[in-house]
Amino acid sequence: MTRPVLHTPRIELRPMTIDHLPLLHRLDADPEVMRHLLGRARTPAEIDAFWAPRCADTVADQVGLGWWVGFRNEEFLGWWDLGRSDSAPGSPGGGLADAEIGWRLERRHWRQGLASEGAAELLRHAFEAVGLERVWAETMAVNAGSRGVMRRLGMRHVRTDVRVWDDPLPGAEEGEVVYEITAEQWRHAAQAGRG
Ligand SMILES: CC(C)(COP(=O)(O)OP(=O)(O)OC[C@H]1O[C@@H](n2cnc3c(N)ncnc32)[C@H](O)[C@@H]1OP(=O)(O)O)[C@@H](O)C(=O)NCCC(=O)NCCS
Repeated sequence: MTRPVLHTPRIELRPMTIDHLPLLHRLDADPEVMRHLLGRARTPAEIDAFWAPRCADTVADQVGLGWWVGFRNEEFLGWWDLGRSDSAPGSPGGGLADAEIGWRLERRHWRQGLASEGAAELLRHAFEAVGLERVWAETMAVNAGSRGVMRRLGMRHVRTDVRVWDDPLPGAEEGEVVYEITAEQWRHAAQAGRG
């Protein structure tokens, strides 16, 4: 299977392609958006170097994973992704039973439930269509917004890793939190929601 276009009540999630690069420039050029990732805006050269190969990644696409860009009434919101665990060094698990979920939205769209809405649809896709057993996510412990999305999705905090960085971001001393949800937990929550 390849990544399908996905829909939520407010968002159309489209597979990311190189045509979306100008939008990714806009997103990563905002230092507030990049605060817990890099501590500053990415430069245009950094944005090209980071995103161009990812837009062209067909390996994840073959199994229905990868990056999606979200639009509300044709307005760009940001991106969501399901990344292969086996492509992330040091990540828990491995193989295609697991994927890491992530999100990044333009600042003017924050605090409207949009990150959670898009991510909930990616979880449904991951468990129902791809057949994954577990989806996990990681962020800085001080990233309250990202942790809020993980909580809203019903993900559980499984551990906190404190790592040594050459050039630590403010708050790095509190570590990185890892959350996860299994297919069984997701099905249980989905059934409870319907009941
Ligand atoms: C993290 C991010 C995607 C959240 O997007 P969002 O659309 O504002 O999130 P939602 O509106 O779905 O909020 C989900 C929950 O988190 C809470 N939340 C969101 N931002 C918050 C913040 N800055 N501080 C505290 N809580 C926050 C919301 O109130 C909501 O809680 P609720 O379920 O109790 O109502 C957005 O802030 C962002 O793009 N940040 C920059 C990129 C980033 O850090 N990505 C993650 C890197 S791992």
